[in-house]
Amino acid sequence: MDLTLHVWRQPRAADAGRFETYEATDISPDYSFLEMLDIVNERLTREGGEPIAFDHDCREGICGACGMVINGVAHGPQEMTTACQLHMRHFSDGDEIWVEPWRADAFPVVKDLVVDRSAFDRIIEAGGYVSVRTGSAPEANSIPVSKPAADRAFDAATCIGCGACVAACPNASAMLFTAAKVTHLSLVPQGQPERYERVARMVETHDEEGFGNCTNHGACEVACPKGISLDFIAMLNRDLMKATLLGAATGEEG
Ligand code: SF4
Ligand code: FES
Repeated sequence: MDLTLHVWRQPRAADAGRFETYEATDISPDYSFLEMLDIVNERLTREGGEPIAFDHDCREGICGACGMVINGVAHGPQEMTTACQLHMRHFSDGDEIWVEPWRADAFPVVKDLVVDRSAFDRIIEAGGYVSVRTGSAPEANSIPVSKPAADRAFDAATCIGCGACVAACPNASAMLFTAAKVTHLSLVPQGQPERYERVARMVETHDEEGFGNCTNHGACEVACPKGISLDFIAMLNRDLMKATLLGAATGEEG
């Protein structure tokens, strides 16, 4: 396949970015999108150019590092597929492809397609953990967890923190990510002692980091490569209301 790429190039956060055009020739339909970028980068490097910076790690759809907007769609045209698992067979010979970074104030561009997603880390630091001594692994059935709760908690826990939900949202809200991280703990017994403090602190940090409000567009759910459901935002909102009544954000008992 021969393709024309228009790639966002931005040397540093403070610089103005622009699209640069590259020809990607002799690309196998079996290459992943990132392998195609690797080929382009090898050619760029051989010609003395600056390779395109993009984030990646596992290349197996599990780490969440590889965020980029492809033809205006977070992670590209395949549903439930990260950019690293997107294969070139989903494009056609001769296609023009536009590649740009996540666009959100809370995700400043570091370089080219790489953005700083440490705001997600700070939301997790605010409460996405269970602060009890867990000791060695307990016997699996010593704390009963119902099958429906275990399944829902697992569904929430499949969020890989990629940020596509933010990139797709017209408000740049990270509420789908936050809801997944709140809910996977609030559904299991181990998450109960800090349940309401957790949701209050994580939502407060979400807002402080500059993410927008959720207004139920649903674009996040469509963009999410792990199929995280909007239902988790509804569950977060119910817990947040209880937290507000309990004064959980300030530690005041209601
Ligand atoms: S909710 Fe989905 S899109 Fe958002 S960070 Fe998690 S996996 Fe990525
Ligand atoms: S590189 Fe890990 S999910 Fe894409």
